[in-house]
Amino acid sequence: MVQKVAVITGSSKGLGYAIARQLAQKQDIQVVLTSRNQQDGFAAQQKLANENMQVNYHPLDVTNDASVQEFATWLEQSYGRVDILVNNAGVNPTMEPEESSLFTVQMETMLATFTTNVVAVARITQALLPLMKANNYGRIVNVSTEMASLTSMGSDYYPLAPSYRLSKIGLNGLTAILAKELAGTNILVNAYSPGWMQTDMGGSNAPYTADEGAETAVYLATLPEGGAQGKFFAEMRKFGGAIALPW
Ligand SMILES: NC(=O)c1ccc[n+]([C@@H]2O[C@H](COP(=O)([O-])OP(=O)(O)OC[C@H]3O[C@@H](n4cnc5c(N)ncnc54)[C@H](OP(=O)(O)O)[C@@H]3O)[C@@H](O)[C@H]2O)c1
Repeated sequence: MVQKVAVITGSSKGLGYAIARQLAQKQDIQVVLTSRNQQDGFAAQQKLANENMQVNYHPLDVTNDASVQEFATWLEQSYGRVDILVNNAGVNPTMEPEESSLFTVQMETMLATFTTNVVAVARITQALLPLMKANNYGRIVNVSTEMASLTSMGSDYYPLAPSYRLSKIGLNGLTAILAKELAGTNILVNAYSPGWMQTDMGGSNAPYTADEGAETAVYLATLPEGGAQGKFFAEMRKFGGAIALPW
């Protein structure tokens, strides 16, 4: 059986690790765990091995062009294919006091947030798309947030968080643009909101676990041919199924 190769960015902890773990439980998927810190990556790989899940590991800093190019070459030489890309790696400076208002937000922070949450997603996607196109198969999952929904921007209860929100709006836009470019192919790209989760980013007061947040990513990573293209999904747990959110 030819296994599908699944790459998850930032998967040594948090949501990325939970997604890697759930995908690794599927017989037909070979997971490639990635992280910018090798020690963290090997530790996560070992944790999964202790649960009898054999995943591969490779270092990857999505903001570093050389790292992304080296990773793409390694994937091509190791597998000659990529079937699933989960763009999970992200940063969130919302707890910084300046992030409580657009009047005080620091431009350096905004730029750094865009660099990881938008530009880096464009970079890794561009680098790996040829390995999907070669087989006319791909599932790309962009981890967004309901804080990026312009429709509920004026009424939701979340912090203002200008840098984070604007960056994830950018990520949603990237999803829509890429979907248009991929129309008519069997490469499907979608964004989703995993909900507020107990991770280093979400903190311990969050209502959901990373495992719960991972469910929708796994659904989108394994969509059948003809499945959703260019949509923004809510976490399935909240609605008992796959529901597209308004942009
Ligand atoms: N937690 C929530 O409530 C929540 C809600 C909505 C959406 N999200 C989204 O879910 C995703 C995962 O967040 P999380 O909650 O799991 O947060 P997390 O525990 O802070 O994990 C973030 C991950 O991204 C990695 N990362 C950051 N910059 C990177 C880079 N340049 N290259 C490679 N990896 C990088 C981190 O690696 P290091 O360990 O090296 O820093 C870490 O593995 C993010 O996109 C976030 O915006 C989270």
